[in-house]
Amino acid sequence: MVTGHRFSEQETEEYYDAEDVIYRSIWDADGSVHWGVFDGEPKGQDHIREEFLSAGIRLNELMVEYAGIDATSRVLDVGCGNGTNVIWVSRNTGANATGIDLSGVRIANAVTSMERVPDLAGRIAFEKASATELPFAEGAFTHVWSQATIYHVPDKIKVLEEAYRVLQPGGQFIFDDLTKPTLNISESARQFVYDRLLFDTDFSFYSYIDALRETGFKVLQARDLSVHLARSYTYLSRLASIAEGPEGYQDRFDYLTDAYMKTVDAINNDELGWAQYLCIKPA
Ligand SMILES: C[S@@+](CC[C@H](N)C(=O)[O-])C[C@H]1O[C@@H](n2cnc3c(N)ncnc32)[C@H](O)[C@@H]1O
Repeated sequence: MVTGHRFSEQETEEYYDAEDVIYRSIWDADGSVHWGVFDGEPKGQDHIREEFLSAGIRLNELMVEYAGIDATSRVLDVGCGNGTNVIWVSRNTGANATGIDLSGVRIANAVTSMERVPDLAGRIAFEKASATELPFAEGAFTHVWSQATIYHVPDKIKVLEEAYRVLQPGGQFIFDDLTKPTLNISESARQFVYDRLLFDTDFSFYSYIDALRETGFKVLQARDLSVHLARSYTYLSRLASIAEGPEGYQDRFDYLTDAYMKTVDAINNDELGWAQYLCIKPA
C-alpha cells in the first residue's frame, strides 16, 4: 500500500524547524506537542491550560501503563520533537530512552534540555534521523513509542517496518496517530486540517490494524481516541485566542484559533480521527 505522498519529508522538516515558537506559545512552553486524554468534566475557562497539559501527561501515563515500561526498558521515541517526553519517560520510569526526530532545530532543543537534567546522564540520548531509516541495530529496543508523528511521514509502511526491525522479539510498539475515517474530505477539512498539517493518510482506524498485522505485529490493543482529539483542539483554539508571542505572531494566533475549531468540525464530521495502538513483535 502506498500511503499519503502529497508532502515530502523535507517540507515537514522545514515546517517543524520554523514553528517551534508558535507551538510553545499555544501548546506547551516545555515543548511537548501532542494531544491529550481527558479525565472528567471541563472545569471552566480559567483551567484550560492546566487541563490540557494534564491530559497530555495522562497520555504518557497510559502509554507507560499499557506497554509496561519500567526501569529495565530501552525505549525509542520516534518523532520525539523537543525531547520533552523522552525526559519524562526516563524520569518517571527509570527507563533508558532515546529520541529521534527529523527536525534539526528540535533535536538541538532536546540536547539543550538534556544538559539541564544531568541526573539522567547516560540514560537518555537524541539523534536527528528519519522514522523511515532508524540508525539502530535490529532488536535494539524493548519498546518503540511514538506520539503525533507518523501521519506526517509519506511512507508510513516503512515506519511500521522500521519499528518492527529495531524491536527485540517480544518488544512492544505503542503509538498514536491520526486516521482518515472517510475518503470524502470536505474543502474545509482539506485546507484547515490535512494541508495545514502537511499530511495525508490511507489509514482508517481499522485499516491501520491490517497494516500492523501485515508488518508482522500482533495487535494487542486499538483505542479510538477521537473524542479526546476534538476536546484537545477545542482547548487549543481557546489557548491560541489568548496566546502571546513575539511581535508579528498575532496573525498566526488568529488563524490557528479558527483553524483549530475547523479541526474540531472535521472530527465531528468523521473526516479525521485519532487512534492509539499497542502491538507486540512476536517472540
Ligand atoms: C506534532 S510533533 C510531535 C512531537 C513529539 N512526539 C511530542 O509529543 O511532543 C511531530 C514531530 O514529528 C516529527 N517528524 C515528522 N516526520 C518525521 C519523520 N519522517 N521522521 C522523524 N520525525 C518526523 C516532526 O519533526 C515533529 O517533531
